[in-house]
Amino acid sequence: MTQERNVSVLIDEAKIAARNTEIAQEIARKDPKGLLVIAILKGSFMFAADLMRALHHAGLMPQVEFMHLSSYRDATISSGQVVILKDVESDVRDRDVLLIDDILESGRTIAFAKDLLAARGARVMTCCLLEKPGKRAVSINADFIGFVIPDKFVVGYGMDVAHSYRQLPFIGVVE
Ligand code: IMP
Ligand code: MG
Repeated sequence: MTQERNVSVLIDEAKIAARNTEIAQEIARKDPKGLLVIAILKGSFMFAADLMRALHHAGLMPQVEFMHLSSYRDATISSGQVVILKDVESDVRDRDVLLIDDILESGRTIAFAKDLLAARGARVMTCCLLEKPGKRAVSINADFIGFVIPDKFVVGYGMDVAHSYRQLPFIGVVE
C-alpha cells in the first residue's frame, strides 16, 4: 500500500484556495452567460468542486456536468489515445462552457474535449489547475491556469498515482 508520509507538499491548501479565488474572479470578468462548467473526471473533481464555490462567490451561477475521459497510459507515460468513458448529458449548443482539467501536459486530453464540445456548438473556455511546460504534443494553451509546475509527477487534490492519493487536500510530490 502507498503511504501518505512519502509525499512532500508542493502547493499547500492555502495557496490553492487563494488561487481558486483569483481564477474565479478572472472568469467572472469574462462575463459568461449561463455558464456550464464541464469537469473532466477523475482528476479534476476536487478542483472543480472548489472552483464551483469560488465562482459562486465571484457572483456567477454556473451549472456543472462531468465528462470522464481516459488516456491510455503505461504507468506515468501517456500513449496519446483519448477515450470517452462518460459523456455530458446536456445539450451544449450555443452555451458558454468552462472545461476543467487537472493537468495540462501533452495537451491531448483538453484538446480532445475542447474539439468535441466546439463541434457540438459550444463556446469553450479551458481551465487547468496545473501546467507542465515544455511537454506539449498538441498545440493548445488553457485560458486559465492555476499554477505552472516543474516536470515532476504530482498527486493529491484529486490527482492519483495508481488510484491512490486523490484525497490529499494539497498538491504533493511522491518521494
Ligand atoms: P495530457 O493529455 O498529456 O495533457 O494529460 C494530462 C493528464 O495526464 C492529466 O489529466 C492527468 O490525468 C495525467 N497526468 C499528467 N501528469 C500527471 C501527474 O504528474 N500526476 C498525475 N496525473 C498526471
Ligand atoms: Mg486526468
